[in-house]
Amino acid sequence: MNEEKLKLVLWDRFGKKSEHWIELGANLREALMSIGANPYEKKFVQLNCKGMGICGTCKVLVCEGDIDWEKRSCQIQCFQDMEIRLK
Ligand code: FES
Repeated sequence: MNEEKLKLVLWDRFGKKSEHWIELGANLREALMSIGANPYEKKFVQLNCKGMGICGTCKVLVCEGDIDWEKRSCQIQCFQDMEIRLK
């Protein structure tokens, strides 16, 4: 089976860059967690709505050109290559 992959460039909380390949249409929150990147900070690792779109604790910065947009990762489906910064 030939599954399409997208490139995810990830900047962690220490400014370290890494590159990953994720499934076309993947949920960003789930994709981040599958590669060992946690979109949650500190206490919110346990205290979150598990992707229901209610709590807002899964926010990441989505880099588009010169602008970083703060968005809830659980509400993003990935259909193009992405660059993400963890907050
Ligand atoms: S996990 Fe709660 S808004 Fe995304």
